[in-house]
Amino acid sequence: MPITSLTSRWRIPTRVRPLYRDADGVLHVTGFAEARAILLADVRQAGFKAETMQKIPPRLRIKPPVLFQDGPEHREQRTQTARFFTPAAVQARYLPLMEAVAGQLIDELCRARQADLNHMAARMAAGVVAEVVGLNASPLAGLARRLDRLLHADLEIGLSLARLPAYLNVQRLVLDFYRKDVRPAIRARRAAPQDDLISHLLSKGRTDQDILIECITYGAAGMVTTQEFICVAAWHMLREPELRDRFVRGELQERQSILYELLRLEPVVGHLFRRAASDLVIESEGEKVHIPSGVLIDLHIQEINADARAVGAEPYEFRLDRRLEKGVNPAVLGFGSGPHRCVGEYLAIAESDVFLRRLLALRGLRILQEPRLGRNESIQGYELRNFILEVAE
Ligand code: HEM
Repeated sequence: MPITSLTSRWRIPTRVRPLYRDADGVLHVTGFAEARAILLADVRQAGFKAETMQKIPPRLRIKPPVLFQDGPEHREQRTQTARFFTPAAVQARYLPLMEAVAGQLIDELCRARQADLNHMAARMAAGVVAEVVGLNASPLAGLARRLDRLLHADLEIGLSLARLPAYLNVQRLVLDFYRKDVRPAIRARRAAPQDDLISHLLSKGRTDQDILIECITYGAAGMVTTQEFICVAAWHMLREPELRDRFVRGELQERQSILYELLRLEPVVGHLFRRAASDLVIESEGEKVHIPSGVLIDLHIQEINADARAVGAEPYEFRLDRRLEKGVNPAVLGFGSGPHRCVGEYLAIAESDVFLRRLLALRGLRILQEPRLGRNESIQGYELRNFILEVAE
């Protein structure tokens, strides 16, 4: 199908080599095998402002959230919370909620006849994250709005006079989120623990401040990503009636293949960053490449996902008949790989499927205003704003 990626203009113009160093010493990776080997090697998280957090003086430092942890402690938290993210948990616990939230959003769209898809997708994604984390006491619309504002604020830490207004704004947004969403949820779970992430963290003796940071992390990891993916998938399917039809009529497996192939082409998290924690040796095209300890590594996910050695011919084309090597995720590195690989993959695919199936089945649905393509710095990816849909009479 002749589908061109929305973000194709951000691609590296000619694919250089699977690995190359730039003048600043940063190692850039565009090859799949090399990227996977690096993500499994002795590296530390260097994306999502993880290194900014390390600059905070130790006495003020809080326990790092899951995304910034490494080693045994990280493995332990993943193992202990894995039960929230299994396909069985998605089916039994979260699918009914997904259907209910999607149903409500679609009803509202049908009544109002117009809506911004980005706002609808934010509420869908926030509803699911809130349930997993345990932030479901406050009304969803307000929670989605607060998280959306917070996750799009400039989170760069570093106090200078010029940056003071931005810094104070973030403080205000964090405090608002804490007071209205996190603190009430913690209080309720201290009184009566439930089967969710906040209750788990409380059982491990984590402080309110630690829990607040985990809530922001899960919000960023689970909400912004799914919100933008739903928008980009809808954008492609609304422009390609044949694909939309196939999705709406298809069985679960076919719908999932469409979503995975779209995520491969349009990875929401555009770059992953790591820092080599020791001297590394990586195989690349039959040669050994030495990566000295301390080197910053930038993994270019769009190019990696289109590495023809891994995904076959016409790597920038949308194709449902790709034959990937055993063990390669159909979204290639769309959900990452190695110790930090996404825990929310099944949730994300299920909620996108539930929402998009209902949305795209609406008769008379069309794009009233094309979305504005922007960049989201926290996930190093795209965002589609002012994406107005209309349901014609
Ligand atoms: C389409 C939607 C999504 C995409 C594209 C996505 C993508 C990713 C990627 C690429 C990573 C790896 C980060 C790294 O290696 O540095 C990641 C990690 C993570 N994701 Fe997702 N994600 C999505 C949805 C979700 C959802 C719905 C949740 C939870 C509710 C979630 C929770 C997480 C968490 C907690 C991590 C960190 C895991 C760790 O560090 O051990 N994600 N995600």
